[in-house]
Amino acid sequence: MLCLRQTALDLILMPDADAKAAAVRALPPGPSAYVLRPDAVLAEPAGVPGRPDRPRLLSPTAMANRSVGTALGRAGLLHALAHIERNAIDLALDVIWRFGGMPEAFYLDWLQVAREEALHFELLHAHLKTLGYAYGDFPAHDGLWEMAEKTRSDLLARMALVPRTLEARGLDASPAIRNKLVSVGDRRGGEIIAIILRDEIGHVAIGNRWFRHLCVQRGLDPIECYAQMARHYAAPRLKGPFNLPARRAAGFDEAELALLQAGEASSPESHLSASPAS
Ligand SMILES: [Fe+2]
Ligand SMILES: [Fe+2]
Repeated sequence: MLCLRQTALDLILMPDADAKAAAVRALPPGPSAYVLRPDAVLAEPAGVPGRPDRPRLLSPTAMANRSVGTALGRAGLLHALAHIERNAIDLALDVIWRFGGMPEAFYLDWLQVAREEALHFELLHAHLKTLGYAYGDFPAHDGLWEMAEKTRSDLLARMALVPRTLEARGLDASPAIRNKLVSVGDRRGGEIIAIILRDEIGHVAIGNRWFRHLCVQRGLDPIECYAQMARHYAAPRLKGPFNLPARRAAGFDEAELALLQAGEASSPESHLSASPAS
């Protein structure tokens, strides 16, 4: 039997993106394959997360913004999405190995997320290859993992800011990306984005579920707690249009959605551009 949390730590250390995705996809999904040791404290080795030599990491402002109407622009977009999914594999594995003391269902939820992120990476990478490019051929930025670093010592902050903020931003961005790809004749690209959107609703729902679990455990109001976390960790201000049906399906309540929209209306100058997450 595999120790799930130790296995997640072993896998996050793998540097090669294809090998890591394949290994995660090969993990058995069911609980009977694993021994779960929620109370184990695993020491962090050097090299978390394992990273390939390429892509070169640059600042988000240095990313080229090309039209998807060109083959190069479309490849750049697919590459950026594949990079997000590669980071998302690491984010899910990191939650499993790093944070102890949670119910067994928590670890199994994040195992499911890791397996789906690995599928998303593989689908996008295979599609990118049909355009003559491979993962690593374009520069990328490290915004997703930077939020993981900032929230490494508090699971409540991790749930608030990664699944409930960055992955939820992906729900908002996906319809426009799908439409763009389909409008330039990339039907397969559109199908892949639809699969990702379907799965990401589940990931955000898992984030909401465990965020609320921790709020109850700590006696915190979820709305106040989220606002305080977003300020403290300098979460990006989210820009509409928001995918309200997807956000509702992922478990955001009406009060949260109203605040999200009010926040957008109040300070348009401080928006970061919406980009998809994991
Ligand atoms: Fe995700
Ligand atoms: Fe994903």
